[in-house]
Amino acid sequence: MALNKLNDHWSSEAYTSAASFVPKLTATILSHLSPSPTDHILDIGCGDGLLTAQLKSLVPSGTVLGLDASASMITTAQNKYGNLAGLSFATHDCTRLSSSAEFIAKKGSWDKVFSNAALHWILRNPVTRSNVFRDVYAALRPGGSFVFEMGGSGNVAEVHTALVGALIVHGVPFKEAREASPWFFPSETWMRKALVDAGFEVETVESEYRPTKLTERKEDGTGGLEGWVKLMGAAYLDKVPAERRDSVVGWVVSVLESVVKREEDGTWWIGYVRLRAVARKN
Ligand code: BEZ
Repeated sequence: MALNKLNDHWSSEAYTSAASFVPKLTATILSHLSPSPTDHILDIGCGDGLLTAQLKSLVPSGTVLGLDASASMITTAQNKYGNLAGLSFATHDCTRLSSSAEFIAKKGSWDKVFSNAALHWILRNPVTRSNVFRDVYAALRPGGSFVFEMGGSGNVAEVHTALVGALIVHGVPFKEAREASPWFFPSETWMRKALVDAGFEVETVESEYRPTKLTERKEDGTGGLEGWVKLMGAAYLDKVPAERRDSVVGWVVSVLESVVKREEDGTWWIGYVRLRAVARKN
């Protein structure tokens, strides 16, 4: 989830409306996890905890800790799953894992560090990027693995492009519009090097173009491309005054309609690219 605690725009309702498919499309990354029943797993960027709870069911005698920068998402996770034994959640900015009390207490002893659909936010800032890999490495026991899926190079390129265009049309200077992205979508080459530089042995780095059907738009403006842009593109919308944000969203949806709406059934699809990796600490 997004990193800036001062601007926590996440709500589990809006997330479920706009992106309920995210925790469901996880069969491939879970197949890379190879959990042992006793594993201790750290889930970074756990969001509303749905997938974190699923991880717990894979390690019946182990523990799972979910961390996320959004207090709102962690509150939802705790309310929904906080009573499951061996499963816990904490609000924490994962760009600074080494300052988490839970991280410090178990440093060097986690069997797995896992992450799904969160590292493209967590790795956004080039200044803290290498710390994330270093801290994950330090978190793991020797023999432990870092297993993750995130947006890869070219991810949601059509929405990305339309958002930059919408800002420019709404008067945001070109450079500022280009730099407004809250995401980092690296290539396989970049990721392999970052993992090796942090000390990992890379087992797998792969990417997959996976067009994904959006949820249906609801009357209240959540869901659909509109809901997706409002929630996931909040950092872009912050670049214009509040009264112009609906216009930016409307522009993006209008421009993309002819690109992402399928003629045969009226469904809307965007071009997700998944970057997956498994890296071991020897
Ligand atoms: C993703 O999971 O690839 C993603 C989610 C939200 C915004 C951008 C990308």
